[in-house]
Amino acid sequence: MALLVVFGGLPGTGKTSVSRAVADALGATFLRLDSVEVAMQRGGIDLRDAPVGYAVAHAIAVDQLRAGRPVVVDAVNPVAIARAGWQQTAASCDAELRLVRVVLPDEAEHRRRVETRVADIEAHVLPTWPEVTAARHDPWVEPHLELDNSSSLAVAVATVLAWLESTSEPTSAPASPTERVARGMARLSVADAGEVFTLQLAAWVREGRECGTLEIPPLQESIDDVRAGLLDAGKRAWGLRENGRLIAMVRLSMLDATTAFVGRLGVVPDLIGTGLGAATLRFVEAQVPPGTTRIELVTGLGSVSNHVFYEHMGYELVSRDSDAGTVRFAKPLT
Ligand SMILES: CC(C)(COP(=O)(O)OP(=O)(O)OC[C@H]1O[C@@H](n2cnc3c(N)ncnc32)[C@H](O)[C@@H]1OP(=O)(O)O)[C@@H](O)C(=O)NCCC(=O)NCCS
Repeated sequence: MALLVVFGGLPGTGKTSVSRAVADALGATFLRLDSVEVAMQRGGIDLRDAPVGYAVAHAIAVDQLRAGRPVVVDAVNPVAIARAGWQQTAASCDAELRLVRVVLPDEAEHRRRVETRVADIEAHVLPTWPEVTAARHDPWVEPHLELDNSSSLAVAVATVLAWLESTSEPTSAPASPTERVARGMARLSVADAGEVFTLQLAAWVREGRECGTLEIPPLQESIDDVRAGLLDAGKRAWGLRENGRLIAMVRLSMLDATTAFVGRLGVVPDLIGTGLGAATLRFVEAQVPPGTTRIELVTGLGSVSNHVFYEHMGYELVSRDSDAGTVRFAKPLT
């Protein structure tokens, strides 16, 4: 079944950036209503009386969906009838419709974005703040994702992709990192070695930079070392995959009967700082065998952001190894 993702929301909320990135991630046809309408206006068509831009967009979407290609639509879709039109288009192509409403709850920030943005389509006249606030907007009563776009583009895109992937009924609340981890974290095997190697190299450059050296184990391991780690019966590894992409991972082993060791906790660089690291660490803490009384881990001596992160997560620095350039953190389990 082809997928039709329709974005809506007031001008200036950042729909275009998010929907374009979602289309790229899905390999979908990106259908931007502004592009259609500006082209028509430049061809001499007056759209004030007839919203034919939507009709053209629907016709293009139908061709794409019937060919089995996913489509992502970027349009204001302010009135109920506009959204009902997409429902009809989806139904006529036997496609699944998912609606995303982009919002910016902070009105001052929204106004700032409306007043400072620059048109990226030639001859596109952008609406002013009074025009944005005066236009008619029907309440969204249809099932949809309400996307608060106050944070970064990466967070917005990850939220939409996670929601699209969920098979549950559409909800107005985006999934939290904890929910995403609970839903998607799965054991990694040697078949995942290539992806683990790639994530490892991408994620640990950050620690390498902070420590001023690339000579740290995660950056020095070869693909064969990674394979060996995944084959090691004493180490269990988990990964979080969203839309086919490995975005977070972690590994757990036992140092002795009561002490667990967490290693290779990493998040892809574009999603660092979005809560996935904390959720992944909490996940692995819950995987320790019964009888475990302490968790330990090691990080770079100069990796200050990791120190801050682990302290934030309840770990305490217990020793330093200046020769190895590492520090050991530990947390008692109660
Ligand atoms: C370490 C790592 C896994 C942390 O994951 P993350 O997704 O960036 O962290 P989160 O977004 O989950 O942050 C969790 C909390 O720690 C805080 N935190 C994280 N890094 C911080 C920093 N440098 N300074 C202050 N607070 C920080 C966050 O504010 C957040 O707090 P909150 O839950 O109260 O909002 C991630 O940065 C990473 O993959 N780094 C590269 C690989 C690496 O070095 N791994 C560790 C090897 S030991």
